[in-house]
Amino acid sequence: MTHSAIRELLKVTEQPGCISFAGGLPSPDAFPLDEVAEVTQRILRDSGTRALQYGPTEGYRPLRAWIAEHYAPPDVTLSAENVLITTGSQQGLDLLGKIFLDPGDVVGVESPTYLAALQAWTAYEVEFAPIPSDHNGMQTSRLNSVWSLSLKFIYCQPNFQNPTGVTLTLSRREKLVAATAQRGIPIIEDDPYHALRFDGEHLPTLLSLAGRRQGGDGYAGHVIALGTFSKILSPGIRVGWIIAPEAVIHKLTLAKQGVDLHTAMLNQMIAYEMAHTGLIEQHIPAIIQMYRERRDAMLAALATHFPASVRWTMPQGGMFVWVYLPEQVDAASLLETSLEEQPEGPGPVAFVPGGPFHTQGGANTLRLNFSHSDIPTIHEGISRLGLALKKHLAVPALS
Ligand SMILES: Cc1ncc(COP(=O)(O)O)c(C=O)c1O
Repeated sequence: MTHSAIRELLKVTEQPGCISFAGGLPSPDAFPLDEVAEVTQRILRDSGTRALQYGPTEGYRPLRAWIAEHYAPPDVTLSAENVLITTGSQQGLDLLGKIFLDPGDVVGVESPTYLAALQAWTAYEVEFAPIPSDHNGMQTSRLNSVWSLSLKFIYCQPNFQNPTGVTLTLSRREKLVAATAQRGIPIIEDDPYHALRFDGEHLPTLLSLAGRRQGGDGYAGHVIALGTFSKILSPGIRVGWIIAPEAVIHKLTLAKQGVDLHTAMLNQMIAYEMAHTGLIEQHIPAIIQMYRERRDAMLAALATHFPASVRWTMPQGGMFVWVYLPEQVDAASLLETSLEEQPEGPGPVAFVPGGPFHTQGGANTLRLNFSHSDIPTIHEGISRLGLALKKHLAVPALS
């Protein structure tokens, strides 16, 4: 494990006056506070002793059954036995590492990919095989370069990927599923932003395409799927899940027993009540509308304040825009410029430089979060960042 210099730098974002597009935080305005308060009181009143007691490692059974039913695609048959409740999907990533990965193993990842997945699996001393992505997601035409590496699995976020915001096209999804099925390589499908689509139609998940390929005959487990309530309800309650074959769930359960015994019962019961009564579903359109407006504000501000030499992605959902600076510009040193406090200056603004999301390269990229800031803050922050960028571009790079 390594210490992150960027995390240290980003501590500045806690100071008043700093605008931060760095975190991956949902908007606090997106939390259904009244509903959660009401549901929590009801749980404590009616089933309080259960909610405050230890529970099974696999998770609260009604929640497992609800997830199995709700997330089973048409061609895949799932039961509660295929679901493990985890303390956020981040724990799911780590548990999968615990049971699948040995030192020296190779994991195929989109490049760039979710930083904390790289962090979680680096601890198991693995190598990463980067598969480049573009505005249509993982470039499946580049998969040929990784087959010789005997991959343990391929990790993929098909929707509104963290960090780029891009979505894997249907034809690439089909190619990825077919090519890995042929070679017997599992896919880890991580889909935390699935419900947060602002434009266009939902595309079939990799889990669903694998089921269709197999001809609707149960669940073969070629795709292991991760989900979470973090982006549609609350990240603070830490409730996520893994969908996997029973034998894998059994191993994951043993691994989880050594970590935290089980996910908090009260939180699982809150998630279940909010989910099965339809309260989450009713709440999602309001989140989508808020985030769509914020995404539009960020794209408009980028077009206004950023130089023509800079490009960025146009996400159809999720929480992030990904920016490509000119090749020679180092986003980490731009961050230093943009965090500098100047007496008469516009004030600091933070983002995450893109390098650490790559296994190599990517120094000229950066990630911007649009879900957490309101629209005036987005305009102000992108205007400040545009100024910092112009200042940075005006200074000749040291060679
Ligand atoms: C791609 C991806 N996977 C997993 C997670 C972890 O989410 P949580 O542990 O809150 O469920 C995140 C959070 O930002 C994410 O972006």
